[in-house]
Amino acid sequence: MSDAKRFYVTTPIYYGNGVPHVGHFYTSTIANVLYLYYKIHGADARFTTGIDENSQKSVIEAEKAGISITEYLDTMAAKHQEVWDYFDFWYTDFIRTTEERHHSVVRDVLQHCFDKGDIYEWVYEGKYCVGCEAFKKDDDLIPDPSEKWDSSVLVCPDHLKEPDQIKEKNYFFRLSKYQNWIEWFYAAHPDFVMPDFRFNEVRAFVERWLEDFSISRETNTFGIPLPFDESQVTYVWFDALFNYYTSCKYSPHPLTSSLPEKKGLDGFTDESSFWPAQVHVVGKDIIRFHAIFWPAMLASYFDLGEEHDGQICYKASDTMKLPKHILTGWFFTVDGQKMSKSLWNVIEPVEYSQEYSKDLLILYMLSAFPIGNDGNYDREEAIKTYNAKLANNLGNLVNRVVVLSLKLDTISSGLSGVVHDRVSSLLAYIDHSLNYSLTQEQVSQLSQSLIDAWENIDVPTVGKMKSYDLKWVLDEVFIMLDHLNKYADTTEPWKTIKEDEESTREVLYTLAEWLRQVWLHLYPFFPEKMSEMFEKLGLDGYTEKINQWGFQELLDKKEIFNIKEKGKPLFQRIEI
Ligand code: MSP
Repeated sequence: MSDAKRFYVTTPIYYGNGVPHVGHFYTSTIANVLYLYYKIHGADARFTTGIDENSQKSVIEAEKAGISITEYLDTMAAKHQEVWDYFDFWYTDFIRTTEERHHSVVRDVLQHCFDKGDIYEWVYEGKYCVGCEAFKKDDDLIPDPSEKWDSSVLVCPDHLKEPDQIKEKNYFFRLSKYQNWIEWFYAAHPDFVMPDFRFNEVRAFVERWLEDFSISRETNTFGIPLPFDESQVTYVWFDALFNYYTSCKYSPHPLTSSLPEKKGLDGFTDESSFWPAQVHVVGKDIIRFHAIFWPAMLASYFDLGEEHDGQICYKASDTMKLPKHILTGWFFTVDGQKMSKSLWNVIEPVEYSQEYSKDLLILYMLSAFPIGNDGNYDREEAIKTYNAKLANNLGNLVNRVVVLSLKLDTISSGLSGVVHDRVSSLLAYIDHSLNYSLTQEQVSQLSQSLIDAWENIDVPTVGKMKSYDLKWVLDEVFIMLDHLNKYADTTEPWKTIKEDEESTREVLYTLAEWLRQVWLHLYPFFPEKMSEMFEKLGLDGYTEKINQWGFQELLDKKEIFNIKEKGKPLFQRIEI
């Protein structure tokens, strides 16, 4: 953890004109897992999320609802927070781009970039998609699928609408000046965009040559006015991206997730030294903004690079002001179709979790596909995965340990084992296998596979988490659980309990201890359920302990399991 004492993770700020669906939930879940993981591993960790409010879409929606824009945005912000709070996400800042702290940062940025000549006035003539809040070129569009005869009608692939044709005075950002700088920056940071193949797409785009882009709109009425020309408001991306920095520059202190008092700049502390972010979690649709525009905007604002012949060259120290990684998530289809209100297949995370389970949603989203690949949310498959991994693999094993330990307790009290650490529990595993008449070869195979499984989750988890490979971590944990189940099946404590109390105790202790360790690994994914799991094994107050002491200290701890009652199964099977 030495190089990660600080960890700052962000989600995209979601448009405030709708409530979060499972696509938004996905990026927020990844951020939450990473935040918790780094926090319990001792990092000074932060997690910023929020909503993107300065958008023409919000104005349109407020008008439709017949209420003021402020009232509309307040309601939407509260709705977003309700969703995240329902899932107990641990965000440390919820930012709204209408807040004064954010306006203050963006005005400062705009003025600085304007003063150094990186923003200039020009006339924009072209296409603009309000749905994307983006200017479009013909290359970005597709022939309208609803037009059978006329393939010259081009529409936005995401919104299936023809963009507006506009001509207006705009201010432009001199992105072309940063062409070299960006290429050098990419070369120095081959893992800037993850996964690799997304970075290749970005590189290919940059190689085609970067054009200056418009950063303001004349006709929009709602947004942050340009400090040097109040008749224009800044275009949504130049505003939105800086939220990540605002959250450090005006940091809520103490770190809190409650809705900020929106007025003024009081109650915030300047913690701009916490910048840069370690990782921005984004969807592939906004990758160009994050991987190309964003570093260039930061370069302009922080005066990075060195100027040679009108071009800016990258220098090594620039990295101190630039985000380390852009982690690009997959884009969902649901049961094979694009998620859309008109198809009635939008998964609302709260509703869906109430019907099934929060853990099902998280488990499936993070284990079905590696981050970055496109994937399909197959509802039936999600239930099967949950039943196999959480209800059977984990849930049944816990149940066995609890029930048998309670039986044992009636014979004599307490489940404090003779097996105290990972190595001796492996040895116990081998001993027991020998007792149960396996061949020497079977024994060494079993024990080796257990050792391998453990090493896979224990040692390289840190490495895999550094590359944000959440699927890999989950997979390995469940392989480990397979082995524990195999161990239980081989040693059969439900049989030995009648005649050999001592060795049954040892087996159960070994299982309980391994489960405890496995749960510590699962904690960032399912904090609520894992806390309940610890309690089931008679380990009280683990949530507080894990936050206070951290992962490693708890992992190395010797525990006595005071199992008191059977309780309800924590992962109920779900019928399809
Ligand atoms: N406001 C901008 C982001 C500004 S960040 C400085 C925005 N908002 S959004 O609400 O439209 O979408 C935010 C993100 O939600 C997307 O970039 C993507 O990460 C995620 N998703 C939205 N729909 C999705 C799917 N169907 N599947 C997976 N993620 C998707 O863009």
